[in-house]
Amino acid sequence: MEKYVYIETFGCQMNDDDSERMLSFLKDDNFTLCSTPNEADLILLNTCSVREKAEHKVYSMLGRFRSLKEENPELIIGVTGCVAQQAGERLIERAPYLDMVIGTHNIHNLVKLLGKKEKGKKLRIVATELKEDITREEYRVSMPLASKVKATVSIMRGCDNYCTYCIVPYVRGPEMSRAAEDIIAEVKELTKSGVTEVTLLGQNVNSYKGGVGFTELLKLVCGVGELKRVRFVTSHPKDLSRELIELFNTEPKLCRQIHLPLQSGSNSVLQAMKRGYTVESYMEKVHALRSLYPSISLTTDIIVGFPGESEEDFRMTMDAIEDVGYDNIFSFVYSQRPGTVAAELEESLSDSEKKERLYELQKLQKEITASKQSALVGKIVEVLVEGESKASKQELSGRTECNKVVNFSLDDTGTFDKDNIVGSIIQLKITDAFTNSLRGELVWKEANVC
Ligand code: SAH
Ligand code: SF4
Ligand code: F3S
Repeated sequence: MEKYVYIETFGCQMNDDDSERMLSFLKDDNFTLCSTPNEADLILLNTCSVREKAEHKVYSMLGRFRSLKEENPELIIGVTGCVAQQAGERLIERAPYLDMVIGTHNIHNLVKLLGKKEKGKKLRIVATELKEDITREEYRVSMPLASKVKATVSIMRGCDNYCTYCIVPYVRGPEMSRAAEDIIAEVKELTKSGVTEVTLLGQNVNSYKGGVGFTELLKLVCGVGELKRVRFVTSHPKDLSRELIELFNTEPKLCRQIHLPLQSGSNSVLQAMKRGYTVESYMEKVHALRSLYPSISLTTDIIVGFPGESEEDFRMTMDAIEDVGYDNIFSFVYSQRPGTVAAELEESLSDSEKKERLYELQKLQKEITASKQSALVGKIVEVLVEGESKASKQELSGRTECNKVVNFSLDDTGTFDKDNIVGSIIQLKITDAFTNSLRGELVWKEANVC
């Protein structure tokens, strides 16, 4: 009998990947994804706890499903992901209509745990033990939900860095790498289904150790014939090696784009965060990247208002942002996470002061992003076509090597067939620049750029 699962996913790409993996396991049990909770037999909230009030938000989200459970006692509601891992039993105590709390190392057990459901009875499952190993059975080829041509592949899980503000090592456990051969097998399977771009995922991909190192793994992935583009995220600046920097030169499939989270432009704040690098050593790596590949796209994460961040520290962050000239920034107000080292530090700023700093920083970045976008007008770029544009079904959309979205129309000469062009790399001339996207026109179609 066909059953329906409704999944809401929060947080980072690793959670998106986990949701795809859950769906893949659930398909074995005759589940199909549905788009509204009302039609679901199983509702899953895949949660993130990187910022405060995460648990509170889960209770309010769960409240929306309570009446559905009252109407249909056979409905199963589960919380998965990082809040599940952190709060465990407490979630069921506070939301008694919840059936399952599945932590970050228990995704592969989902179907087995669902099998414990007895008709007419509510499930009460809390599966939050952290494993000490990583096994082949936990992973599997999971088709991307959001795209037909690009997929993410988790290459490792957990983190050993324990930056003082961060909850991730506590909720994802110690760093463990999947075997390189399993990753390659997954990538090959994905290409059989039409995937031409993969992004390798990990909290710190540079410390991958799955029989080979990260640079070697990238070479192996780039060697998969059908693949046209390879990206990775996230790269910890302290571990970014010269070998990896130089790989951008020798591997044409490796997109010249790197997310390198700086967090702060002040050495004393970086030290208090236990980031393991200085602004100077970070800048040396940026210069090495830029001198080899002037057009490489750089993005970063910044936290403002870390305990003790002075006005001068904040100005140093603003200066660093101007010096690097990032293509984009993901910026956050510092958020206290229970159990972390920084949670013991006294907060030096009020919420409104932190928000003012964030506003100022985001304003600066908007100007930098806008000028970077405008500089592309008139340029010819290579775009991997992903499908229809979000704004209009008449248009197609794709991304440049630097991960910038470009929308374009097919010409009406009939030269290009919409279905054939998806998944190909084509050349477009940029005609307009907007904050989050570009518009281009076709120059010519190249069947096999890579
Ligand atoms: N592993 C990645 C980051 C994963 S978390 C890395 O080290 O780069 C994603 C981002 O969330 C972090 O880079 C950081 O900027 C932000 N973040 C993490 N904990 C936070 C906290 N307590 N308050 C505010 N932002 C936080
Ligand atoms: Fe968190 Fe630091 Fe690990 Fe990134 S490297 S996940 S910020 S502890
Ligand atoms: Fe959030 Fe967990 Fe990712 S805390 S950022 S979903 S690793």
